[in-house]
Amino acid sequence: MKRLIAALLCAGLIFTAGGCVADEKEDEDITIGVVVYDEYDTFVASLMDVFMNGVTERMQSEEKKITVLRQSSGGSQITQNDQVMDLIKKGCDVICVNLVDRTDPAMIIEAARDADVPVIFFNRELVNQDLYSWDKLYYVGADAYDSGIIEGQIAADGFLEKENADKNNDGQMQLVVLEGEPGHQDSIIRSEYSVSTIMEAGISVDKLESGIANWKRAEAQNKMSRMIDKYGNGIEVVLANNDDMALGAIDEYETRKIPLSERPIIVGIDGTAVGLEAVEAGDMLGTVYNDKEGQGSAMLELALTLATDGDVSKLSLTDGKYIRFPYARVDRSNVLEYID
Ligand code: BGC
Ligand code: CA
Repeated sequence: MKRLIAALLCAGLIFTAGGCVADEKEDEDITIGVVVYDEYDTFVASLMDVFMNGVTERMQSEEKKITVLRQSSGGSQITQNDQVMDLIKKGCDVICVNLVDRTDPAMIIEAARDADVPVIFFNRELVNQDLYSWDKLYYVGADAYDSGIIEGQIAADGFLEKENADKNNDGQMQLVVLEGEPGHQDSIIRSEYSVSTIMEAGISVDKLESGIANWKRAEAQNKMSRMIDKYGNGIEVVLANNDDMALGAIDEYETRKIPLSERPIIVGIDGTAVGLEAVEAGDMLGTVYNDKEGQGSAMLELALTLATDGDVSKLSLTDGKYIRFPYARVDRSNVLEYID
């Protein structure tokens, strides 16, 4: 069923929150186009939920008709380029783009500029040269450095506090990293800063390996399985670039029936619903909250502004271009505040 809906969505046949009404559109009505790189991405999907709930609330509280035309690009930049052209043709006032390839926004920017339709990029950050190539381009996201640093702090604290964290007693932290997509700003920065933060905390690090699992739980389980085969009980810390991959690692330890007391410290990033549950259960030592509420509502606010008077000066944009949200540390001591 999910696949069918996805296919219809891709074909542009299902429209949420109102339907496509380019022909009968009234002046006051707002049409927002949204394309995501992959609808099955857990974090992006939850960010979209926040955005869509915001749309529903705004329609109820103000006498405004907001139509959102949503598409998923299925991991293809070429598909996404076509989708954006199509959304422009359908009369969108503004388009929110979660790039597939963050280094390749050129066609989207050109098409938007020709049609004078502003674009809000989100979550997958284009290089600033591209962002500055036209004045109606914006970015909403988070501060990636923060996420790596906080993840490193959670792991370092855990290693110093937890009994027998240094399993082989060599005074070093044997760690592995599960990485997101290569080239994604968050994979690159998180992988580097989590580890450097641990070293700055005075812990000597022995990085055994890093494995690319593209943000995905099943791929991470696979990588973890190979690493356990190779290093056995020698892995003391698993730093995952996101919660889904941390959960994949946990899945593998579960599959092998390795008890919690013998598992490494596992840390994630995002604070997705499932990630938070794993922290509460003690399977994951901690996670780093990726503020989907902040990002989803800021994106909506910016989109509505761009679709109406265009006066973005009332929103606090950095450099007139960026809105970034800070990350926050989540561990067992405060996880309940995040579980709703
Ligand atoms: C999130 C990941 C997600 C990725 C998608 C990151 O900010 O932490 O969970 O897969 O964005 O672009
Ligand atoms: Ca050790």
